[in-house]
Amino acid sequence: METGLTGKRVLVTGASGGIGSACARAFAAEGAEVVVHFHRGKARAEELAAELGTASVVGADLTREDEVDQMFATAGSLDVCAAVAGVWPAEDLPVWEIPLDRWRATLDSNLTATFLTARAFLRQLDGDGSLVLVGSTAGIVGEAGHADYAAAKSAILGGLLLSLKNEVVRKNPLARVNAVAPGWTESPMTRGQVSEAQVRQISRTMALRKVAQPEDVANQVVVLASPVLSGHVTGQVVTVAGGMEGRVIHP
Ligand SMILES: NC(=O)c1ccc[n+]([C@@H]2O[C@H](COP(=O)([O-])OP(=O)(O)OC[C@H]3O[C@@H](n4cnc5c(N)ncnc54)[C@H](OP(=O)(O)O)[C@@H]3O)[C@@H](O)[C@H]2O)c1
Repeated sequence: METGLTGKRVLVTGASGGIGSACARAFAAEGAEVVVHFHRGKARAEELAAELGTASVVGADLTREDEVDQMFATAGSLDVCAAVAGVWPAEDLPVWEIPLDRWRATLDSNLTATFLTARAFLRQLDGDGSLVLVGSTAGIVGEAGHADYAAAKSAILGGLLLSLKNEVVRKNPLARVNAVAPGWTESPMTRGQVSEAQVRQISRTMALRKVAQPEDVANQVVVLASPVLSGHVTGQVVTVAGGMEGRVIHP
């Protein structure tokens, strides 16, 4: 099916990671010119760029305003941005034990990084572009032990997305912004958390008793970014979580 993404310039943040690299491959498969972003994983990003052929590579700590703005200046003009980068703090801590430093770091690396990315993308947008944010089911049903992450993702999927939806049309009447909310997805972020036994536990409120592959999420990112497939879709959250209804609270 034609997606209309051929020749579009697409920045994928977090393309050095599991879901981001799948997004970069999926956009490249549609004929897009992909800009691959990394933070610490320069070698992984360069390997991916070599695999994709035409992709260029940009590095930035997306929690830093100066680095984000420099990255967009280096990347050149862009039609699409998939804001995939994010951090899930692995340690399970209830709110009363979360140190303020961790709270701030988690909000920074998820919410603030997404804000800075969206801001810089929209500043340079000169056409009917598309922005796709990446949240999490944690932002919809919460996640005990990770309230900082759940709060950041909730803000992305709620107030930020819905405000942006009505703002982007001031840049261009056809500009759109949507979000994907992945559930458990096999990636470096979840390594060690998705054994067969853990999947049985994790999937107790899911219709499909498996975790997603990064490609499952990437395909939805491409669909939302596509002006052909999603030209009248904006402000929406697509959940990629096998029909998850919530989380098991009592083991
Ligand atoms: N995997 C899941 O189960 C799951 C579920 C729900 C939502 N998500 C969301 O999906 C997105 C991708 O996750 P993933 O599973 O692909 O994780 P991942 O493999 O750990 O990738 C995370 C990516 O974010 C980048 N990143 C982290 N901190 C950054 C910073 N300060 N500045 C710039 N880039 C930064 C990393 O860059 P470097 O590696 O180059 O440092 C990496 O490319 C995240 O937003 C995550 O919250 C994942």
